[in-house]
Amino acid sequence: MNYLNFDELDENELADLKRSGIDRINWARVHMPVLKILGNEIKASNSLKDIKIAMALHTEAKTGVLALTLAEAGAKVRLTSCNPLSTDDPVAYALKFSHPNLEVMARHGISRDEYYHALNWALDMEPHVLIDDGGDLVKLVHTERKELLDNVRGGCEETTTGIIRLKAMAEEGELKFPMMNVNDCAMKHLFDNRYGTGQSTMDGIMNATNITIAGKKVVVAGYGWCGRGIAMRMKGMGAMVSIAEVDPIKAVEAVHDGFAVQKLLDLAKDADIIVTSTGCRGVVSRDIIDELKDGCILANSGHFDNEIDVAYLDTFEKERAREHVHSYRVKGKRVYLLSEGRLVNLASGQGHPVEIMDMSFAIQAAGAELIATREFLPAVVEFPRSLDERIASLKLATMGFEVDSLSDEQKEYLTSWEEGT
Ligand code: ADE
Repeated sequence: MNYLNFDELDENELADLKRSGIDRINWARVHMPVLKILGNEIKASNSLKDIKIAMALHTEAKTGVLALTLAEAGAKVRLTSCNPLSTDDPVAYALKFSHPNLEVMARHGISRDEYYHALNWALDMEPHVLIDDGGDLVKLVHTERKELLDNVRGGCEETTTGIIRLKAMAEEGELKFPMMNVNDCAMKHLFDNRYGTGQSTMDGIMNATNITIAGKKVVVAGYGWCGRGIAMRMKGMGAMVSIAEVDPIKAVEAVHDGFAVQKLLDLAKDADIIVTSTGCRGVVSRDIIDELKDGCILANSGHFDNEIDVAYLDTFEKERAREHVHSYRVKGKRVYLLSEGRLVNLASGQGHPVEIMDMSFAIQAAGAELIATREFLPAVVEFPRSLDERIASLKLATMGFEVDSLSDEQKEYLTSWEEGT
């Protein structure tokens, strides 16, 4: 596992890597004030002292700030990535030297074996708390690492895909410890999934391709919170946006948001760019790939790399077009695939904007503290609404906005049967 450990780099290269990693972490830290406030409170309470936390999150600057915050609060933390292409190498390397309570094993472009090696390394610490993005740590503990079950108090899950997996486990009676549902907090999915994915997907596609968005026919597959954000930001940049969605309610919503809605196959024939964000597999399937026009760009923003049929694309002649872009010759036409079909916003971009991850990771920190200090049943646990609201209030305050509050009379009115006259 030399690659994972940066063993092939010389002293100067490592020094450069460390320097730019430190810069990125420091920049992120300055823009994460809510996490800082909660981190200081957790530290003062000593509630995480010597709690062992294994984290599998996209290992980039904002995640580094979360890991450091927990380590500084007294937890012993092991951080690894939740995707082979999402690690920011300078950050991963710099974090190794950042705090005695924090250990890191992650690198961009690792193999499947290296990926699982790193997840298992994180679990070797015998964690009390898991912080997962996508559910891989939890799955490992319930399958190949069952010996760890007794020690695990529970965990937190970051993303929609992970919550779907956890709910399936819970339904089958297989979930053996409580998992805090970070994704469904208002202060997470309304901002991270929508505006975060919206902006970071643009960042990933524009960084990978350097093309003009304005005037392009863009198809967004999936109109959940992420798809809504991507469609909104694409439209804002001047693209002609259409939506493919299987849920009729979401499809009606897309129509009312002003988008054309049609079957993916029909939209795909004329698309310049197709972005998937459905959370489901086999979305851009072989029948769709066969119909794409020359020069179509395919990108995925869903958690797993199974939304675009990359295996089918790989049956065609393939060459590197530029960094992050492969060109396939599909039945005489060129089809471009970004980031190997992995989440384009992290594999080719910088992930969600920092102020948005401030909210998501404030929830992660608060969730980890709850799991470490309170008793919950082995189930998917809903994050307390009062804490969600507190994070909103802190965010408003750190952004410099003041809002009104209800008078006692108004509060009473809102909980009474009183008529409006
Ligand atoms: N940065 C860290 N975690 C992330 C996530 N889940 N999505 C986008 N950017 C991130």
